[in-house]
Amino acid sequence: MEVIVADYAGFCFGVKRAVEKAREAPKPVASLGMLIHNRQVVDQLAREGVRPVASLDEVNCGRILIRSHGTTPETLVRARDKGLDIIDATCPYVKRAQHLAQKMAAEGYQVIIVGDAAHPEVQGMLGWAGPGAVVVPDKKAAAALPFHPRRAVLAQTTQPESRLEEVAAALRSNTDTLVVHNTVCQATHQRQEAAVRLARQVDVMVVVGGKESANTRHLAELCRATGTPTYHVERAGELCRQWFINTRRVGVTGGASTPAWIIEEVVGMLTGEEKIMVPEEEKEPVTTQEPVASGQPVAPAEPE
Ligand code: F3S
Repeated sequence: MEVIVADYAGFCFGVKRAVEKAREAPKPVASLGMLIHNRQVVDQLAREGVRPVASLDEVNCGRILIRSHGTTPETLVRARDKGLDIIDATCPYVKRAQHLAQKMAAEGYQVIIVGDAAHPEVQGMLGWAGPGAVVVPDKKAAAALPFHPRRAVLAQTTQPESRLEEVAAALRSNTDTLVVHNTVCQATHQRQEAAVRLARQVDVMVVVGGKESANTRHLAELCRATGTPTYHVERAGELCRQWFINTRRVGVTGGASTPAWIIEEVVGMLTGEEKIMVPEEEKEPVTTQEPVASGQPVAPAEPE
């Protein structure tokens, strides 16, 4: 069975940077929420002294790490007021979206955010977007909004660009002046395109990543939509032999929060080169579309 790893599988630039900042931070340090949506990485970091906390109420002194999803301005002020040392690992692309939301709100626009209202990145972005800001999941919700003279629309960084375009088109019917800011992260776009391209070339797709990770779940949905049987697993141990009966080629990809060692573990299991991977030191992301023949190591990746 031939195993092919998609381009851009695994850690994106922002997640890699957040994990590096967590590793470099003097310990102990508290992280506000799960640093990234991957249980194995969060557990590993906890062993290194990075303690996830649900809110600032749990931290009265020391350091607080802001995750790649970012947070609200109120939270940053509160952390400063408490005398905490802030280590900001907000992804620069998320930060750009926050700044745009803040700027448009200051210029009198109602800010519309395309995304999932429950996602921490969107909750953080809302804090920058002014009191009238609204989150819409799709074009139907956008079309149902009442008339407004001035709106600015931007997106959660992991949304598909097509959804931002659809929402913008719907808003033109109930808005006089509409400004569209494309805040979709290209890393997401590239990963999704590469995964779909690979899904069309293989018999079975395996998508590796945390079950809480929205971008990993979405990656699996996109692969499944090509008609190729697709399985979402967190670890190699979840792979089932019967998924691969009569399979010639298997494609593997991983979400933005999936470390390279877990992707390698899955590839190792599929190629029969079972390895116990030790997550001591995060490796470069696996980004190759070359087939991995049974018994060969996974090709090293280009840095982001
Ligand atoms: Fe940043 Fe894009 Fe990753 S917004 S956290 S580089 S998916």
